[in-house]
Amino acid sequence: MKTYLITGGAGFIGSNFVYYMLGRHDDILLVNLDKLTYAGNLENLRGVEGDPRHVFVQGDICDRELVSGLFAQYNFDYVINFAAESHVDRSIANPEIFVQTNVMGTVNLLQRAKEAWYDAEKKTWKDGKKFLQVSTDEVYGALGAEGFFTETTPLSPHSPYSASKAGADQFVMAFYDTYGMPVNITRCSNNYGPYQFPEKLIPLMINNARHHKPLPVYGDGLQIRDWLYVEDHCKAIDMVAAGGRSGEVYNVGGHNERTNIAIVQTILAQLHDRLSDEGISEALIRHVEDRLGHDRRYGIDPQKIRSDLGWFPETPFEQGILKTIDWYLANERWMNGVTSGSYQRYYEEMYRNR
Ligand code: NAD
Ligand code: DAU
Repeated sequence: MKTYLITGGAGFIGSNFVYYMLGRHDDILLVNLDKLTYAGNLENLRGVEGDPRHVFVQGDICDRELVSGLFAQYNFDYVINFAAESHVDRSIANPEIFVQTNVMGTVNLLQRAKEAWYDAEKKTWKDGKKFLQVSTDEVYGALGAEGFFTETTPLSPHSPYSASKAGADQFVMAFYDTYGMPVNITRCSNNYGPYQFPEKLIPLMINNARHHKPLPVYGDGLQIRDWLYVEDHCKAIDMVAAGGRSGEVYNVGGHNERTNIAIVQTILAQLHDRLSDEGISEALIRHVEDRLGHDRRYGIDPQKIRSDLGWFPETPFEQGILKTIDWYLANERWMNGVTSGSYQRYYEEMYRNR
């Protein structure tokens, strides 16, 4: 049986990964360590309640004693580090917590893994262990109209969020270079799908449009993101954990570049048709003040993970966006739960002066 420490598994991608893994592997144990910040939500894990292959632990990846204790208790084979502060706009408003969680938290996990997995006397690593860092294409910075991010593109992060993720990546590679720790890094493009917190573009626009609220499009809306259905990202992480060569970085993306305005228009058209609601139209779009330092274009070259591991995306965007819209329509209670209370304050502060 393989035992995984999944961090941040009550968030968007982490909770999808828990479902993905439990749906495909019988003989595993997932220990899910999550602090339950505003972005973490036990509602996301309702579907695995009572499954003995999943254990939830509320706690901080920066907590040395807690993480050491978990290694001693469970003898992990894998660490999959999803836990992070993940929203660019919040990092612009408050960078410190991004350094604390994304850099210091990752270093704490690396150190505790090294203590548990490295035999200092024999100078060897225990067999079958791996630390997988879930990183992002944003560490590469922004692209012009041409070209794609490859694994050898130099790191050039622009936002406090991407700078903190790049810092974490550098520590992961430092543990590989210095101590020979078995590691992989995945760098994925923008994900969409169920359980995404509605501070991010797609669920925010679905929720606002549904309630006939203005849709805040930053600047001209012609920035480009490379969208991947979350399950395809989960598949990539599973494959890299199982088969990735130690010390390697794998970019993950499906060549699905869209402008933000096109995404918003697609959501509006689909919601309009699905709900037969004439109030859902492009008249709701508002071009508002742009994000500071806004990266213009991201685009991933996924050739390496394709050729080395046989990964490919299974969900075309046209299908994935419909599944996603339908999920949010069917899960109104979930959306109401996460948009009550502090979300209202967040929204007011983030969008008031735009
Ligand atoms: P998210 O914000 O939805 O979830 C983050 C989770 O981490 C939450 O459950 C939160 O409670 C938890 N967390 C935060 N601080 C913690 C701490 N100190 N200790 C323990 N848990 C903590 O994020 P997401 O979108 O699911 O992203 C997951 C990971 O994937 C992140 O590392 C992010 O950088 C990366 N990533 C995200 C995307 C995307 O499009 N969302 C794309 C590429 C990479
Ligand atoms: O590329 C991977 C990254 O994708 C991940 O590492 C991040 O964790 C994740 O948050 C995401 O970052 P983005 O900044 O690209 O995602 P976001 O959904 O915040 O914004 C997507 C685009 O939409 C971006 O160009 C900004 C724009 N936008 C966003 C919001 C929330 C708007 O125009 N209006 C909005 O209200």
